[in-house]
Amino acid sequence: MMNCNYFSCLFSSSTAEISDITEDMEDLGSVEIYSYKQLNEATQGFRSPNKIGEGGFGSVYKGKLLDGAMVAVKVLSVESRQGHSEFMAEIASMSNVRHKNLAKIRGVCIEGTHRILVYDYMENNSLAQILFGNEIKTVELNWEIRRDICLGIAHGLAHLHEETKPHIVHRDIKASNILLDWDFTAKVSDFGLSKLFPDNITHISTRVAGTLGYMAPEYAISGHLTRKSDVYSFGVLLLEILSGRCVIEFDIELGEYYLVEKAWEMYNDGNLLQLMDPSLRGDFPDEEVVRFLKVGLLCVQETPSLRPRMSKAAKVMSNEIDIREVEISKPGLIADLMKVKIVSKKNTYSTNSKTSTNSETRSSMSCTFSSNSVFSNNSIVS
Ligand SMILES: Nc1ncnc2c1ncn2[C@@H]1O[C@H](COP(=O)(O)OP(=O)(O)O)[C@@H](O)[C@H]1O
Ligand SMILES: [Mg+2]
Repeated sequence: MMNCNYFSCLFSSSTAEISDITEDMEDLGSVEIYSYKQLNEATQGFRSPNKIGEGGFGSVYKGKLLDGAMVAVKVLSVESRQGHSEFMAEIASMSNVRHKNLAKIRGVCIEGTHRILVYDYMENNSLAQILFGNEIKTVELNWEIRRDICLGIAHGLAHLHEETKPHIVHRDIKASNILLDWDFTAKVSDFGLSKLFPDNITHISTRVAGTLGYMAPEYAISGHLTRKSDVYSFGVLLLEILSGRCVIEFDIELGEYYLVEKAWEMYNDGNLLQLMDPSLRGDFPDEEVVRFLKVGLLCVQETPSLRPRMSKAAKVMSNEIDIREVEISKPGLIADLMKVKIVSKKNTYSTNSKTSTNSETRSSMSCTFSSNSVFSNNSIVS
């Protein structure tokens, strides 16, 4: 159902564009069209107290529609290369992908240069906020909630990868893209969005620079993107959820650490449980937790073909497939790759941190990695 006077939303478009979009209207499925005025009212003029986040695509505001529905309004600040109708078609096809663990785009506003996406508001914000947010923790994620979140993410991704035709590679799996609704059901968000806003210089943009720790090494090197790159990012995310630690960070207990490397060390020392979030105070079933930790390590293996598909990862976690005998091979460590790359391409690489030691390299990855760097191959495939 169209939410506003459709043509009033398009007054600034050319006649040709209007007829193009009108043709696409039949395919728009359940995506509502909002006017800028409606969203301006819903967010009280995009007032800063209503701003709930800022991401790589723009700012996100909390809003209330006239019918009382609470929404998250994402004002896109990046330019997409598509025309209006193409953009609408992409949004519509994304919104037609339905699954309990996928965040649905509720509606869109395209007016003049405004491009705004509207989502249902998620009461419990994002996993990043709850796990790593600076605010005093009001929510403690116990083991059962974490387990269900991990399984939910795996099911949502399996749906994108294996049940959607043609399949969708998420491209940007990270803790802030896992939204949590009122009962902590995980909703994977922003799938396919990066495809709408391809980086014009390289496949690694400023947008993803801060989240380099999630990136599969083969993707970081060559730009070759497959479902298995998503599986790698899922593995990193799983390790974060279980350990309560960010992929690359400074920590009083561990010093500066790289989570994937730590997990691998602990696995080899037969100490995998040590990785678990201390705030859980050991209140979890060891066998189940070890299974989840091993899935994390299986997903980040260096060789993409050895990483499980998402449906298999989910089945291992829920104990439908036994992996006790499966050998886990060494993980792809992006820190090592960065060092090699930085050393070999020093001249074309710009970063404001020194690159001589491993730990310095890691700091540059987590905080100050610069975008237009060594990555020149732009062969994104999905
Ligand atoms: N539907 C939503 N409900 C509640 N909060 C949201 C929603 N969508 C996004 N947010 C918040 O806005 C922030 C920015 O989101 P986004 O623009 O997608 O950037 P990123 O995913 O890079 O953090 C998120 O981290 C989250 O805290
Ligand atoms: Mg996001």
